[in-house]
Amino acid sequence: MAELHLHIEGTLQPELIFALAERNGIELPYADLDELRSRYEFTDLQSFLDLYYANMAVLRTEQDFADMTRDYLARASAGGVRHVEVMMDPQAHVSRGVPLETCVNGVASALATSEEEFGVSTLLIAAFLRDLPEDDALEVLEQLLAMNAPIAGIGLDSAEVGNPPSKFVRLYQRAAEAGLHRIAHAGEEGPASYITDSLDLLGVERIDHGIRCMEDAALVERLANEQVPLTVCPLSNVRLRAVDTLADHPLPAMLSAGLNVSVNSDDPAYFGGYVDDNFVQLRAVLGLTAAEQSRLAANSIRSSFASDARKAELL
Ligand code: ADE
Ligand code: ZN
Repeated sequence: MAELHLHIEGTLQPELIFALAERNGIELPYADLDELRSRYEFTDLQSFLDLYYANMAVLRTEQDFADMTRDYLARASAGGVRHVEVMMDPQAHVSRGVPLETCVNGVASALATSEEEFGVSTLLIAAFLRDLPEDDALEVLEQLLAMNAPIAGIGLDSAEVGNPPSKFVRLYQRAAEAGLHRIAHAGEEGPASYITDSLDLLGVERIDHGIRCMEDAALVERLANEQVPLTVCPLSNVRLRAVDTLADHPLPAMLSAGLNVSVNSDDPAYFGGYVDDNFVQLRAVLGLTAAEQSRLAANSIRSSFASDARKAELL
């Protein structure tokens, strides 16, 4: 199984937040772990993003980024993940004074030893914050290219509604010119038209989330015909109230429609589980069968940007 939709900053566990705060001499606005955990009740995407960005304050040194990344890789490996495409949010660190090299090199150093240490092959994707101006993203992309950052592609995340794909046409053109893979969050909270525009205006190869495609029958037909990969995150969708309960999740309908879906954890430290936990709950609540789980796992490997040789090993 491959994990294709994972924000490394969303793997920062409460215990590590406290440990890094102590190591870096940072005063947290929470008295203890219980008080921090009591904030993990979200009403929508923005209510989560506020806490997610605030907690990043503890990430200061290369070692901090490497420790967070290693913790995730160890846990993902134990849960059966054999390939991961890790997103990181460079702008969220640069904007608070952490040098680009520090965050990129910290994450990349842990990824570099992952296959040997954990049996998990990795790729790194720089995700850009869609609530910031496109010029800000372009500047950071140029810096990443200039420093030869080991990135395989770019993504687009953060507050979706009101920040449509059309805002980032130049960014995606530049990434294509640079030979990078392109993905984008679309149709999580935003409308189905953001999925269409991500494909047509940004040239993306995969859609992160994409669940709101189900509101547009013509789009579902297109996504099925073109086998566009959709990296679905069931527990995330429940916790961010994109769906009411797991029992209401469109995953079964998406499978029935012939869509190329995979199951992913998004921000496992915040949403109550890693990718294996997502599968446990899908089996328990939605009656996901072993055959369906195998199909989802095969989709994740085929839809990855791993080499053909690695895909063949994993399939
Ligand atoms: N950043 C981290 N997780 C995200 C999500 N689920 N949607 C948009 N931006 C994010
Ligand atoms: Zn996401």
